[in-house]
Amino acid sequence: MLKLWKKLPKGIKRKFANSWYELISRIDSGDDLAFMNHGFAPVEGKPEILDLAPKLEKHRYPIQHYHNLAATVEWTGKEAIEVSSGRGGGTSYVFDTFKPKSMIGIDLARTAVDYCNQTFQDRTGLSFKVGDAQNLPLEDACCDIMMNVESSLNYPDQDRFLAEVDRVLRPGGYFLLADYRSAKGMVSLRRRLEGLAYEVIRLEDISANIARALELDDPRKQEMLNRRVPALVRGLVAAFSFTGKAAREEIDRFQSGRKSYVFAVLRKPAA
Ligand SMILES: C[S@@+](CC[C@H](N)C(=O)[O-])C[C@H]1O[C@@H](n2cnc3c(N)ncnc32)[C@H](O)[C@@H]1O
Repeated sequence: MLKLWKKLPKGIKRKFANSWYELISRIDSGDDLAFMNHGFAPVEGKPEILDLAPKLEKHRYPIQHYHNLAATVEWTGKEAIEVSSGRGGGTSYVFDTFKPKSMIGIDLARTAVDYCNQTFQDRTGLSFKVGDAQNLPLEDACCDIMMNVESSLNYPDQDRFLAEVDRVLRPGGYFLLADYRSAKGMVSLRRRLEGLAYEVIRLEDISANIARALELDDPRKQEMLNRRVPALVRGLVAAFSFTGKAAREEIDRFQSGRKSYVFAVLRKPAA
């Protein structure tokens, strides 16, 4: 099944990816999949960079990824958006920890958005909307911070997405991005980011941090996979969630430079 998947054209894989995120929301009624990113860990030394409440411990590395990116700017009193908020783990963590005035999570997967609106309904100021990153359901110049974690690689039209970021950000607003690409794709992404002509606050290659988190988080992901996923489709789900052999292959791609992971904090010029 895995061999067949590898041969499929990019467009079909993308369609499958969209259905996959809908499916995840249908099968995960709890918070096992509240985060869907590779995670972040220091390259050396203790892997923990945060004290976490016991119920969040299982999400340590994906939370560290969000925290590391969010901690680069001041959120107090700000109106923030996360595009591709998934199952809301990161959006709610950032909202609870950094306390913006308001935060809206936007995602293409309706089941994920419904889940988030129900799960986080007690947070005044936090809400979720269905929407496409390439055509955001938002007014012009409506937010101070726009966050996007490990999602833009799936958007068919990257230029359209960046034009939307520029449209909805207020002058002086921040664009926080964390994502990976193939070596060639990263050259295009960096060129596109330069094209925004925003002030570059941070622009770093964090591939080594991502590789370490993938390694450290793998036992938890394997345990979850064995517990939750039927044996028949386990190989495919493991490949799609970078677990087991797929995690080792992904680590190798980052270590060999075939893929890289960027961390970007950019500021739109003040008017
Ligand atoms: C790998 S998950 C990351 C979710 C979340 N940022 C996290 O780190 O847990 C990618 C997310 O992008 C969403 N997505 C894919 N294409 C999208 C689009 N065109 N517009 C908005 N969201 C999209 C998917 O539904 C999914 O929730």
